[in-house]
Amino acid sequence: MNANAMGAAISLLILLTCAPRSIYSQERRLVKMTLVRNASSIGAYCLDGSLPAYHLDRGFGAGARNWLLQFEGGGWCNDVKSCLERAATRRGSTRYMSKVEVFSGILSNNASLNPDFYNWNRVKLRYCDGASFAGDAKFQNGTSLLYFRGQRIWQAIILDLLPKGLGQAKKALLSGCSAGGLATFLHCDNFTSYLPKNASVKCLSDAGFFLDARDISLNHSMRYFYNSLVTLQGAEKNLNKNCTSSPFPEQCFFPQYALPYIKTPFFILNSAYDVYQFHHILVPPAADPHGHWYHCKLNPSACNVVQINTLQGFRKYMLETLRPFFVNSTRGGMFINSCFAHCQSELQDTWFAPDSPRVNNKTISEAVGDWYFGRKVSKEIDCAYPCDNTCHNLIG
Ligand SMILES: *[C@@H]1O[C@H](CO)[C@@H](O)[C@H](O)[C@H]1NC(C)=O
Ligand SMILES: *[C@@H]1O[C@H](CO)[C@@H](O)[C@H](O)[C@H]1NC(C)=O
Ligand SMILES: *[C@@H]1O[C@H](CO)[C@@H](O)[C@H](O)[C@H]1NC(C)=O
Ligand SMILES: *[C@@H]1O[C@H](CO)[C@@H](O)[C@H](O)[C@H]1NC(C)=O
Ligand SMILES: *[C@@H]1O[C@H](CO)[C@@H](O)[C@H](O)[C@H]1NC(C)=O
Ligand SMILES: *[C@@H]1O[C@H](CO)[C@@H](O)[C@H](O)[C@H]1NC(C)=O
Ligand SMILES: *[C@@H]1O[C@H](CO)[C@@H](O)[C@H](O)[C@H]1NC(C)=O
Ligand SMILES: *[C@@H]1O[C@H](CO)[C@@H](O)[C@H](O)[C@H]1NC(C)=O
Ligand SMILES: *[C@@H]1O[C@H](CO)[C@@H](O)[C@H](O)[C@H]1NC(C)=O
Repeated sequence: MNANAMGAAISLLILLTCAPRSIYSQERRLVKMTLVRNASSIGAYCLDGSLPAYHLDRGFGAGARNWLLQFEGGGWCNDVKSCLERAATRRGSTRYMSKVEVFSGILSNNASLNPDFYNWNRVKLRYCDGASFAGDAKFQNGTSLLYFRGQRIWQAIILDLLPKGLGQAKKALLSGCSAGGLATFLHCDNFTSYLPKNASVKCLSDAGFFLDARDISLNHSMRYFYNSLVTLQGAEKNLNKNCTSSPFPEQCFFPQYALPYIKTPFFILNSAYDVYQFHHILVPPAADPHGHWYHCKLNPSACNVVQINTLQGFRKYMLETLRPFFVNSTRGGMFINSCFAHCQSELQDTWFAPDSPRVNNKTISEAVGDWYFGRKVSKEIDCAYPCDNTCHNLIG
């Protein structure tokens, strides 16, 4: 299942990278990679031992002292086999990564494409540890060597950025999508601790609200997956201490259990039918050996009534799980739409474009900006599928 899940995650990412329409291609902002050379002084390495990296595009004008950090996403590895495979790819080694990245959507430097953050310092943190920047362990058996050093990578990047201006930030936003959106939950309060006490610090998770849900065979397959990941990569000691004092500390890798303890203002952006969760948590390949969900996964309009009801049940569980946050978080924001999507802040056409997805007539960019700058309360929940005709469905 893990290899399958990973393969599918990678194909999804390829799809995401290739899908965007080309109308923005002329203005694509290309930003070079910076290797964190000093990372070795704290033992911060990618899975294969290569140095970690980020891409920094400097802020300007009124945004020169504001910082947006974005964790890159890209699945996880939860056993030695899948981590060894990953270590030989761009998901586990900076050696194989593109040395130049496109900055679009929330990372764009163009005011008309990214009105609230375009002139901030914008940083993409490359993902190469396989555990949402939270592991701290090493595997060594004489023939194979793997570094599980996500937490140290996080620290090394922050320590490198502090003297570059992050340490004097006025405003800051920690964001990320998918495994990077999960990293945002795990590191939000730690981020705040590095910044000036009088800075305005907030966090945004995009498609990172992975649920502790049962799959269609009633198995807690995602719980098994995260438990093995947390154990292999030694992540438990880096999870929120107040959460891990509960009887099931390893489950604090799930955002729903960590969220009540996060003190920094938080925005949750997620689709209630997030494609990754649909394909890997609700209907993992192992739970559908006969492929009854094959057509439904490719196109929601091909789902039968039972399948649609199952998807509606998943949405209902997500909304129930978020209810305490929705009701009681005075400084929180949310945008839970009903599109078959995964990662909506990084792509220009879902973040902010004339035809981008909306809830209550608000784009994602507007909802996040309204929340960050306190312009308006921003807690948007979409009606259930298929009501929303503003979606850019990845499938179908
Ligand atoms: C910013 O984006 C707008 C809308 O796509 C485009 O017309 C304009 O040329 C872009 N500006 C720059 C400097 O790329
Ligand atoms: C490199 O790391 C060492 C040990 O953490 C630290 O003392 C030193 O200041 C760092 N140097 C730079 C240039 O960041
Ligand atoms: C080390 O682990 C790898 C992956 O599990 C395995 O293929 C290899 O045989 C192991 N080597 C030794 C010496 O046990
Ligand atoms: C933040 O994380 C680093 C490790 O990455 C740790 O050394 C530090 O104590 C943490 N800070 C807080 C306030 O938890
Ligand atoms: C925070 O305080 C420092 C030191 O007094 C000051 O230089 C900085 O401008 C302040 N930042 C904000 C956002 O007020
Ligand atoms: C439940 O899922 C886990 C992880 O995928 C798997 O190892 C286990 O065999 C599954 N159990 C059943 C009863 O399907
Ligand atoms: C745990 O909760 C206590 C009491 O609310 C708080 O003072 C402390 O900072 C929390 N610790 C963490 C790691 O969130
Ligand atoms: C909101 O907080 C109040 C006071 O702590 C609590 O009684 C209530 O149950 C909470 N509401 C939800 C939906 O969690
Ligand atoms: C939706 O917002 C757009 C601008 O973003 C505005 O032109 C339009 O009138 C709004 N539609 C409704 C129904 O409010």
